[in-house]
Amino acid sequence: MPPEPDVTAYPSAEPAPAGGAQWQALLDGDTTALAQWPDDPLVSLYAPLCAGGPDRALVVGHLAQSLDGRIATASGMSRWLSGGEDLLHTHRMRAISDAVLVGVNTVLHDDPQLTVRRCLGRNPVRVVIDPERRLDGTQRVFVDDAAPTLLLVAAGRGQEGERVGHAQVVPVERGARGLDPREICRVLARRGLHRLLVEGGGITVSRFLEAGALHRLQVTVAPVILGSGRPAITLPEISDLGLSLRPRTRRMVLGDDVMIECDFETVAGAGRGAHG
Ligand SMILES: NC(=O)c1ccc[n+]([C@@H]2O[C@H](COP(=O)([O-])OP(=O)(O)OC[C@H]3O[C@@H](n4cnc5c(N)ncnc54)[C@H](OP(=O)(O)O)[C@@H]3O)[C@@H](O)[C@H]2O)c1
Repeated sequence: MPPEPDVTAYPSAEPAPAGGAQWQALLDGDTTALAQWPDDPLVSLYAPLCAGGPDRALVVGHLAQSLDGRIATASGMSRWLSGGEDLLHTHRMRAISDAVLVGVNTVLHDDPQLTVRRCLGRNPVRVVIDPERRLDGTQRVFVDDAAPTLLLVAAGRGQEGERVGHAQVVPVERGARGLDPREICRVLARRGLHRLLVEGGGITVSRFLEAGALHRLQVTVAPVILGSGRPAITLPEISDLGLSLRPRTRRMVLGDDVMIECDFETVAGAGRGAHG
């Protein structure tokens, strides 16, 4: 695997929307073909993110935030904080993932489709965490049949095999803080879902980060200040900067935005909650 460059301009012009040889090789996991293009920006960005499989899960979080660390207004409006390149990147992340996971608030506010529309690729399985069953089944992930949907509920709040629209209910044991993200990953792995994109919102991604269940976290920073709103990452309070997470990072320029990708598998500094 070639070294992962630190600062790169995002490859947005090609292959979207139709695809290209490099993107097709990434989708196919064709390592022989990919070896031909060690310096191609698309390949160097996405090849490490295609590495997950049955022997090794890969869980990637993604959030788009303002300069002051907000992912949405207080009322829950987040469209569109980041620009077109980040949107394309999100669709590419979906296309190379087995499953895309969001929390219940995101479904309530955005009613997202969670499908691949801006690039070539198949739709991932959609996974919604709704422990207390706040969703009423009218949202798009339950009524369209664009991809299978799993509804993760707290054990005791639903039965295995139960359905909500097209979605399948999957009870998950409660942990100390809600549903344990590591248990969620195990439940999904048993269903053959090893590459997971945790697409929001802030609470859901933060729970995965706190549990040490994220291998990578991509934060796209848009040059906008909200001054109030829903926070991106929130972790238990620390009193010493030495306890902060200082992962290895790589950076990408996405139009007017900058994406910083944290790699928690190779922790450069002291780590709290980093993936072991
Ligand atoms: N800018 C972006 O990148 C981005 C991405 C996605 C969404 N958004 C925006 O972000 C907002 C929603 O984000 P949010 O942080 O408020 O909420 P969220 O992460 O979408 O949903 C959080 C809720 O999901 C449930 N949940 C998540 N993880 C859980 C776990 N491990 N165990 C138990 N329950 C869990 C809890 O439901 P209960 O409260 O029922 O227990 C929790 O309150 C929306 O406004 C959306 O538009 C922005």
